[in-house]
Amino acid sequence: MASEYDPYENAQAVIDRAMEVGDVDPRLRDYVRYPQRETKVNLLVDMDDGTVGVFEGYRVQHSNLRGPFKGGIRYHENCTLSEVKALATWMTLKCAVVDIPFGGAKGGIRVDPRRLSVGELRRLTERYTEAIAPIIGSDRDIPAPDVNTNEQTMAWMHDAYGRATGAPTAGVVTGKPLALGGSKGRTSATGYGVVSCAALVLEKFGESLAGTTVAIQGMGNVGSNAASIFHGKGAIVVAVSDVSGGVFCETGLDVPAIVEYLDKGKRLLNGYEAPGVVHIANRELLACDARILVPAALENQINAEVARELRCAYVVEAANGPTTADADDVLEARGITLVPDIFANSGGVIVSYFEWLQNLRGVSWETGEVNELLEEFLEKSFVELWAERVRTGCCLRMAAYIVALRRLALAKEKIAHGERAGESEIREREKSAAAAR
Ligand SMILES: NC(=O)c1ccc[n+]([C@@H]2O[C@H](COP(=O)([O-])OP(=O)(O)OC[C@H]3O[C@@H](n4cnc5c(N)ncnc54)[C@H](O)[C@@H]3O)[C@@H](O)[C@H]2O)c1
Repeated sequence: MASEYDPYENAQAVIDRAMEVGDVDPRLRDYVRYPQRETKVNLLVDMDDGTVGVFEGYRVQHSNLRGPFKGGIRYHENCTLSEVKALATWMTLKCAVVDIPFGGAKGGIRVDPRRLSVGELRRLTERYTEAIAPIIGSDRDIPAPDVNTNEQTMAWMHDAYGRATGAPTAGVVTGKPLALGGSKGRTSATGYGVVSCAALVLEKFGESLAGTTVAIQGMGNVGSNAASIFHGKGAIVVAVSDVSGGVFCETGLDVPAIVEYLDKGKRLLNGYEAPGVVHIANRELLACDARILVPAALENQINAEVARELRCAYVVEAANGPTTADADDVLEARGITLVPDIFANSGGVIVSYFEWLQNLRGVSWETGEVNELLEEFLEKSFVELWAERVRTGCCLRMAAYIVALRRLALAKEKIAHGERAGESEIREREKSAAAAR
């Protein structure tokens, strides 16, 4: 991939375009350009061998214009502040596009978690939580899982936050285990939403999931849940991959068997064998013969060069930022429909919102209720995106950005109105006071 790729600059370039195409109030521009707070912390961790490990951690709070900051925590050896800033920006847009009352944030630690023991990971998570405890909270900033973090990480964060502040609060993180106030349906929510979004778009083109071929890059939380749900709906998952490479079967992979294989210990796909299955490289997966391509790993996987090689009809972005801005142009020119990340993977944050609501109200919803409400949010948002796409003739990414940016501009405008009303009230009061003198 091009080494000059900068995720934050990429995000800003797409925003610039959407501001122009959607004729969004230019006074919003700097509110989405500059994150409200960028925190960097050095985490000192007692390692199992008696040495002290030093790790860099980040929490970027991009915008709380529409509600408390919200966004996941990523553990990755290549995590950078620029990446976290981009991810935080996308969270602001994501919460706005599906109209949930949150702003955007993201966190990360520069670490290869595969090199740490469970005890070291727990201590690292505790140091990180203590470091950011003063700026998070259920009404302030609510972290969740992301790449290489999961409900176990959230359980540690929940516990460390309670001990650091003396105020244990269920709603301080989402994606928790059920026993700590997690929501049913949260673990599968992002994958569930990805499949629902794919179905909504296919329907517009007179197609359905049943019998449609799918290739998925990344078999972590999002990719494996999406694979299982696609498979359950009759789609034919022909290829999947992880960091070790991919597997392909023209007639369809045995998804339940692969998920079971991956679930057993820390297994990777390069060790998976089954009749009719061949091993492929990640680049081959992206360009394989499948109608739907689902990037569900990391950013910057589909650049302009890769986009020219794709053979799919749809790209459904389960990952955040997998497609570069110049690749968007290639896809559009080639007539490949892209379902943008801020909509396609919003299922996770929508169900995080449900989890937060359940925590605030002290109630617990059933999986059926959660999924039904999730579908409602996605359908409502999709109606708006599609209408914007038809109105402007732009692609779905532009439509999603425009809907989100307008919603942010409206929030900003309401605040400004309040300010103006306040000014006129003051003037009225001054006038009456002068008259009374
Ligand atoms: N977890 C969520 O709820 C959630 C919500 C919205 C968006 N996302 C996004 O979805 C993506 C995946 O998140 P996740 O939670 O599933 O992470 P995860 O850590 O559970 O899984 C990541 C997967 O990607 C694979 N991978 C890593 N590098 C790869 C590469 N170069 N090529 C192919 N595969 C590679 C890993 O082996 C793993 O299978 C990220 O972009 C994340 O930001 C996650």
